[in-house]
Amino acid sequence: MDFELKTLSRPRTASERCDALIVLVPAAALTQNDRLTGLIGQAIKARHFEPEPGKLLQAYKSPGLQATRLILAGVGGASARQVRAALQAAMGALKGSAAQKVIVSLSWLPAETVDMAACVQAAVAACADAAYTYSHTKSKPTPSAPQRLVLGVGAQGSLRKAFDTALATAHGVDLAREWGNRPPNHATPTLLARAARQLARSKRVRVEVLGPREVARLGMGSFMAVARGSEEPLRFIVLRYNGAPRSQAPVVLVGKGITFDTGGISIKPAPEMDEMKFDMCGAASVLGVFRTLAELQPALNVVGLIPACENMPDGRALKPGDVVRSMSGQTIEILNTDAEGRLILCDALTYAERFKPRAVVDIATLTGACVIALGSARSGMFSSDDALAQALSRAGEEALDPCWRMPLDDDYAEGLKTHFADVANVAGRAAGSVTAAKFLQRFATRYPWAHLDIAGTAWKGGAAKGATGRPVGLLVRYLLAQAESPGAGVSPRRRKA
Ligand code: BES
Ligand code: MN
Ligand code: ZN
Repeated sequence: MDFELKTLSRPRTASERCDALIVLVPAAALTQNDRLTGLIGQAIKARHFEPEPGKLLQAYKSPGLQATRLILAGVGGASARQVRAALQAAMGALKGSAAQKVIVSLSWLPAETVDMAACVQAAVAACADAAYTYSHTKSKPTPSAPQRLVLGVGAQGSLRKAFDTALATAHGVDLAREWGNRPPNHATPTLLARAARQLARSKRVRVEVLGPREVARLGMGSFMAVARGSEEPLRFIVLRYNGAPRSQAPVVLVGKGITFDTGGISIKPAPEMDEMKFDMCGAASVLGVFRTLAELQPALNVVGLIPACENMPDGRALKPGDVVRSMSGQTIEILNTDAEGRLILCDALTYAERFKPRAVVDIATLTGACVIALGSARSGMFSSDDALAQALSRAGEEALDPCWRMPLDDDYAEGLKTHFADVANVAGRAAGSVTAAKFLQRFATRYPWAHLDIAGTAWKGGAAKGATGRPVGLLVRYLLAQAESPGAGVSPRRRKA
């Protein structure tokens, strides 16, 4: 879909030709005596329309309007969240219609009292979200979404930058959704690597792809052990975005890329096992972030690491009781082959050390326990560094892609003790998302580190089954804040002199 930001006064909006005009209507009293504003005021007064998020009033070919269809969408106090809710409802109402050109007008919002930049960002995100359709493995074209979306604002002022950022972010979210959604036989480690190579066509982006031989040479015994049970060869993808001088330490993002998780020998039950194609959504979010970086070209350095493989049961597959040696030298007793995410991430976390990073953030659909703890509203966030945790929390709130900090007390690591190796890959059932994070923390001791467990937020199940593209919004927001104040977001005690 094509997006455009356009200055459109209220009277001008009424005379714009389009298939659908969506007017965001705030609860605050409307002044100015143009015709459409007058009608909106009447509709509210007569209680035909309540200007609250989710409430709509629709009309077809209204006199004095050049738009074929008019949708009034309430936004209440016009917070970013309310703008998103309003547009989810309004775009939902357009679903299946033939509307090609849609205007979304923000010109009725009280620009003096609301955060217009946040509203523009929320509007772009919500419309892009509604316009995404999956089609890669459909034999017939899917019903068309709007082709052109014009965002009308009273005055552009400094909104251009917010709009450009939001649009680039939406493209990253789209890419993450697309790869998350692709079926496991259409999103193998090899195909993920190919997607990464495509990104490297952009300015300042480079990619290196390692195969089984190179990974063996690096000593990634833990990652290799997971890949053993599959016919698909593993890939270790290294993406680099260089927007700042080489001397500037990069932020490293590590994305879990299990392209299908059967559980291995500790095999999962059949119901809903198909959803384990989403087990590479961490990897997809890293690809998405790089898509956005390539478009925005911010002044910072970012490394993306994606260990990618399948987790399959097989004659050669790793077994419960096996002990493997990780790249860090630590030995790991595998008590459950379904706790494979941490086994591929730990080696990537060790590999990350070579970049002398200012921060490392791993992103993983790591535990069902995180879904139990936090559901789908917030990603689980774990961090050994308060400033990093704060920066991620803030980015999540601002991007409407929130996370919630979880604990890392050493008490939670007790269950990972074993007689047969340095550490076991699982503890008991209690606090499963925390014990998983405690396992990872052992491999992330040399830099400020955070872990995002996105098991509950990366995709939706049920009727609306599909990837969400989270947490691309959070990560982009975090990185752009880093670009503006290098060194912020990391505690001073951890910053190297
Ligand atoms: N990919 C799963 C985590 C998962 C499960 C995400 C369900 C979303 C929904 C992960 O590899 C896994 O299987 N984790 C196990 C860990 C357990 C064996 C300690 C889990 O959560 O059950
Ligand atoms: Mn698993
Ligand atoms: Zn998994």
